[in-house]
Amino acid sequence: MEEEKIPQSIAIIMDGNGRYAKKNNLPIAIGHKNGCDNLEVILEEVVRLHIKYFTVYAFSTENWKRSKEEVNNLMSLFHIYMPRILKKALNNNVKIHFIGDIESLDEELKNMCYEMINQTKNMTGTIFSIAFNYGSRNEIIRAIKKIKIEDINNLDEEKFSTYLDTNGIKDPDLLIRTSGECRLSNFLLWQISYSEIYITNVFWPEFSIDELHKALSQYSMRERRYGTRV
Ligand code: IPE
Ligand code: IPE
Ligand code: MG
Repeated sequence: MEEEKIPQSIAIIMDGNGRYAKKNNLPIAIGHKNGCDNLEVILEEVVRLHIKYFTVYAFSTENWKRSKEEVNNLMSLFHIYMPRILKKALNNNVKIHFIGDIESLDEELKNMCYEMINQTKNMTGTIFSIAFNYGSRNEIIRAIKKIKIEDINNLDEEKFSTYLDTNGIKDPDLLIRTSGECRLSNFLLWQISYSEIYITNVFWPEFSIDELHKALSQYSMRERRYGTRV
């Protein structure tokens, strides 16, 4: 693939753990666990490809509405996988970043997030953003609350972006959603204005390195116009 056709910034809505479990007669908990294992595989490939920005939707502000059992299961998976992701990041020169309302998480999870940020702050490779307790509308409201009244009149798009959790992260060139749903589910509404969107029916736990390459190859054939006539 030509160098310039590889996206610098990729985001993934990792959807379909539940349907994958159902299809394979497995408990949902195993679906989520296999989804976490798969994230480690895809992260490594993204690093190998020197993709600078990698953002994944791990848990939305709306996902709290699921059953207590499922939410608890997901939170315990975060406890298990965050140290593993940290280790992987340290071994692969990956800098970890979180987007979402981390402040409202329970103390232990919040501390784990800060620990991951802190320990990887000097890494110079891929910047891996984890959307955790993330909702785009929530992010926009939190951003607005940070703006000083006296700065409102001079606010422009570039300046507004700096108040978002994604400050410093390049807007996704490519947004991938697994499991076939054609919606954004409150993910990066501001940032994906001109992203190329790739939707596959493959469930997240089965989204292999080959599937990632299919998405990249599709992307390489897209013509981005940004409203202009080229
Ligand atoms: C994505 O898989 C994981 C999270 C939302 C945390 P789902 O659990 O949404 O899987 P489906 O959509 O029910 O198949
Ligand atoms: C989006 O998936 C959130 C994550 C992948 C973390 P959902 O499964 O929550 O989205 P909906 O409910 O199908 O829109
Ligand atoms: Mg889903």
